[in-house]
Amino acid sequence: MNSVKNTSSSRDRNKDSIINRFRRAMIFGYIVTVVISSVIVGFWSRHEVYTAAGKDLSLLVDMFKSVGTFVLEDVRPEIVAQDVFHAPALSPVVATKKVSDHLLKIQPDYYVKTTSDNPLNPTNFPEPLEQNILKQFRDDSDLKVLIQEGTIKGRRFLTSSRPSVSKASCLECHGGIDKAPKEIVAAYGSDSGFNYPETGVVGASIVGVPLANLKTVILQRSLTAAGLVALLFGGLFLMINRLVQRLVLRPVAGITEMALDVSGGNLDREIIMERKDEIGELANSFELIRRSLVTATNLLYKQRQKKQGEPQQK
Ligand code: HEC
Repeated sequence: MNSVKNTSSSRDRNKDSIINRFRRAMIFGYIVTVVISSVIVGFWSRHEVYTAAGKDLSLLVDMFKSVGTFVLEDVRPEIVAQDVFHAPALSPVVATKKVSDHLLKIQPDYYVKTTSDNPLNPTNFPEPLEQNILKQFRDDSDLKVLIQEGTIKGRRFLTSSRPSVSKASCLECHGGIDKAPKEIVAAYGSDSGFNYPETGVVGASIVGVPLANLKTVILQRSLTAAGLVALLFGGLFLMINRLVQRLVLRPVAGITEMALDVSGGNLDREIIMERKDEIGELANSFELIRRSLVTATNLLYKQRQKKQGEPQQK
């Protein structure tokens, strides 16, 4: 009795060890999958955000180039012929400024600016990032386009910049103050924006598309991925749990119970399991042991009866 109790209590202690091991494996698998999927989501989101920003950017740059070409080719000649002074119709930079002012009212997340450290309009004075861009254009006169990521007024952008190079036609407005159109001096004063050199980089046009939400995008997508993986693992877990219960744990518990019954003295109970797999084999082995026990006990019983009967017969 004592030995049976011991066996059953140690059995209880380890009773759900297979299930526990299986749970641990599932949790480990879940964590590994979430970590791997987060890394993939991170790379993928980054790539996607930059590709989308790049597309946006080249569209915007081309749009502003077209505005410039429109002014130079379709508007300026007419205006010059009529000898009228209207800066947005004469200078692509001014036209771009006007268009971008309208655009930024509708799309405040974007960034468009023609900057110069000698500006007519003080709001065009370069931000730190723009000063750095200007310097790069001045250091390398072959540099025609610069695409870089950066922060302007606390917001992150993917920017595309092109140098503003002075030429003779610019001096019409940006030359000496005495020769500048009176409308320009009246509107912007005479402090700066004049005395452009005949040639050289005087400024830069910068177009920026927002990049600030990359971290949020990665976080959102990682959480979604973790949730989806959890659902998948939850489903798998329930499925495998049921399979393990049905195919392994319950039959094994049945065999154990029968074996304990036999070991407790009930030799008549057959251990039968209609299965052709390893668990069926295990049950068959127990049944063979039980039969051997029955034969052995019968033999013993008969021998003892014989021994007991012999002296009585005498
Ligand atoms: C018809 C006059 C006119 C001509 C010609 C002209 N600009 Fe300007 N430019 C302006 C005005 C006006 C502004 C200010 C626009 C604003 O309010 O932001 C300006 C602004 C700029 C700016 C931005 C910094 C600033 O001064 O506020 C740059 C850079 C610039 N022009 C470069 C050029 C270059 C290079 C040329 C020649 C290819 C040129 N401009 C020709 C009138 C002109």
